[in-house]
Amino acid sequence: VKGGFDSFMDKEIHDQPKAVADTLLGRTDEKGALVLDELRIPETVLRSIDKIIVIACGTAAYSGHVAKYAIEHWCRIPVEVELAHEFRYRDPILTPRTLVVAISQSGETMDTLMAVRHAREQGAYVLAIVNTHGSTIPRESDAVLYTHAGPEVAVASTKAFLAQITACYLLGLYLAQLRGTKFPDELRETLRELQELPPKIQQVLDGEGYVREVAQAMKDEPSFLFLGRHVGYPVALEGALKLKEIAYIHAEGFAAGELKHGPIALIEEGQPVFVVVPSPRGRDQLHSKIVSNIQEVRARGARTLVIAEEGDEAVVPYADIIFRVPQTATLMSPLVAVVPLQIFASELAKAKGLDVDQPRNLAKSVTVE
Ligand code: F6R
Repeated sequence: VKGGFDSFMDKEIHDQPKAVADTLLGRTDEKGALVLDELRIPETVLRSIDKIIVIACGTAAYSGHVAKYAIEHWCRIPVEVELAHEFRYRDPILTPRTLVVAISQSGETMDTLMAVRHAREQGAYVLAIVNTHGSTIPRESDAVLYTHAGPEVAVASTKAFLAQITACYLLGLYLAQLRGTKFPDELRETLRELQELPPKIQQVLDGEGYVREVAQAMKDEPSFLFLGRHVGYPVALEGALKLKEIAYIHAEGFAAGELKHGPIALIEEGQPVFVVVPSPRGRDQLHSKIVSNIQEVRARGARTLVIAEEGDEAVVPYADIIFRVPQTATLMSPLVAVVPLQIFASELAKAKGLDVDQPRNLAKSVTVE
């Protein structure tokens, strides 16, 4: 069942190229335009949307956090991302022009389900992005876009996360196509970048041996910090969550820009810090900003574990360890950058002799509040 892997989590990490490819499959026509007829949301509704609110919990919420950067950029629609349990106890501002996107692997998470009900009661349109067919959340939503990750067994979510980002990107590109906020050429190019990801994810998996070696050597560390900017920020949060939940190690993710506003006080001699570095080919200053952040923590004694693109030499002087990922457009980078973090957590948990698939105190789907 585990396909020759030590754990379901390892198997599912290795399923990721297929999870992304399958989620993309059959969603374009012969001209390369996106077809999401399956949504069955009237085009008039999709054209009139003036706000998107993503509701989800845990890893699913981080996928929404990644998608916010992309959808706002492509569609010029404001996107809020809210934890379902916070959303449902607020008095959120929803109108018939609000599209609520509920993301869930299981389709059964109680908090997310309650938030869906809360949103619909107030007249919002609810689209579910869900992995499990026949589950409750899609049944109670107005529309559903399935992720095709296949069954996820390990408690720690991996392939569902990549599939969720992929599905959110399809939604964003579809809205951009429909609303004309991106030129058709640009849309095709972005879609092509997305379609090129499965072999790039595979490339990261092919290099997993080094990540595992480093993880084994660090199994007795009491704490890890994770830094990222832009889409690298939710990747940092996800890397920290993986380490907490399966290796029981204190781990915290920060937006790198927050360092000086507090977290930098935590840095002392030997503190391991993961840094998710964006592409040096991006148009903005993201890359140089984060290189300065690596320097800053290094100067205070941190041991830096850097996730960087192949060919990015600027990080070399400040990195103790470099995990290389293939070159991608900035918005595509989470789909490769998170993979070494998943492998690291899995290997470290294994090195500590823990049950990687069934961590203590956790359930695969949280059907209670
Ligand atoms: C983390 C993890 C949880 C889930 C969260 C939402 O690895 O598995 O944080 O992501 O409980 O679950 P779903 O997606 O089933 O709603």
